[in-house]
Amino acid sequence: MDKKVKVEPSKKLTELPPYLFGAIDVLKKEARSKKLDVIDLGMGNPDIETSAHVVERLCDTVKNHPKTHRYPQAKGMPKFRLAVADWYKKKFNVDLNPENEVLALVGSKEGVAHLCMAYLDPGDTALVTNPCYPVHRNGIILAGGQPYDIPISEDNNYIPDLKKIPAEVASKAKLMFINYPNNPTTAVLEDTKFFEEVVEFASKHNIVVCQDFAYSEITYDGYKAPSFMEVEGAKDVGMELHSFSKTYNMAGWRVGYCVGGKDLIKPLEKMKSYLDYGVFTAIQLSGIKALKGPQKCVRETVKEYRRRQKKLVDGLNKIGWSAKLPKATMYLWMRLPENFRDMNSLEFAELLIEKTGIAVAPGIGFGAYGEGFVRIAVVTHYQRFHDVLLRLKEFLKEGPPK
Ligand SMILES: Cc1ncc(COP(=O)(O)O)c(C=O)c1O
Repeated sequence: MDKKVKVEPSKKLTELPPYLFGAIDVLKKEARSKKLDVIDLGMGNPDIETSAHVVERLCDTVKNHPKTHRYPQAKGMPKFRLAVADWYKKKFNVDLNPENEVLALVGSKEGVAHLCMAYLDPGDTALVTNPCYPVHRNGIILAGGQPYDIPISEDNNYIPDLKKIPAEVASKAKLMFINYPNNPTTAVLEDTKFFEEVVEFASKHNIVVCQDFAYSEITYDGYKAPSFMEVEGAKDVGMELHSFSKTYNMAGWRVGYCVGGKDLIKPLEKMKSYLDYGVFTAIQLSGIKALKGPQKCVRETVKEYRRRQKKLVDGLNKIGWSAKLPKATMYLWMRLPENFRDMNSLEFAELLIEKTGIAVAPGIGFGAYGEGFVRIAVVTHYQRFHDVLLRLKEFLKEGPPK
């Protein structure tokens, strides 16, 4: 007798589309099995090493301070929260009370998912841009909520037009995600005007705002990304999430944080207290080292991404795929090349990897309004972009399948 149980996963999980990068992984595996030399520009997974002084802090702590091997302080050790508050003061002249306006996260992705669970009951509405970083939307669905998509496109500079959100939707929405500098579109805010509108809108309709600031430091040519916390009233309506993943190339370490109004971040802290034990103390100490140590590593990371982006953008324009340098992030958000526009973004990404070994992220993976685009992450070393361009040149010359 077959003893295997057959239990369906939850409807919420079943109804979610396959995880974008899971789908790319399958394509990469297939390409490798055909002996293709895969160049992975799909996931925004930084390839630059974490700085030596941060790594050393971790090694020293783990080796010489065994007390850190115990469960950590879930909301973040006081020193960690203070380092975050100091960083905000220095960077944005924003005052944060480290006691109750800063919360450590096991990466900002986890923070988004748990925030949705903290605020949403089944059927509750939450506002999210489309396209978006996938967990903003999927976190809402996994918490049983109903995402309401705010389309962003070139027409609105990828910035939501809040006036277009119907009053009956705004009045029932509980939560709203925004993300500038934006993944996947690379859009930025030139000033705090949109954030001011968001404060006004959220306050009027009683909505908690979560601004995802994962790319705050990956900015170019003198552009400085504004913080939501700089805007008057921001703490009354929401919070901002940060990640060490991109700023300090610590994606695998799993450490981030949330700052914002104390009453608004409290439910997230409570939800997390039931579900996780916080960030490993040795990693919190390494995070402090990153925040307080020399920031040359951040400048070098940014410089290297820019060098790669310039090489790629120059080359793409030469081979007939129109590209522009973004003001922030390590991505290019690219409309499909002209003669491939009969294909959708997934078909294009599949064909691209099959023919060239180059993996990119299809725009549809970030939402229906991402269709027609692909996102390219410059997360491989500079010299590789020479190969990327040679392969793309051939690919474009050959054109779409007849
Ligand atoms: C907008 C955005 N937020 C959060 C994250 C994830 O950050 P973390 O590694 O801190 O979970 C990413 C990663 O790509 C991202 O693009």
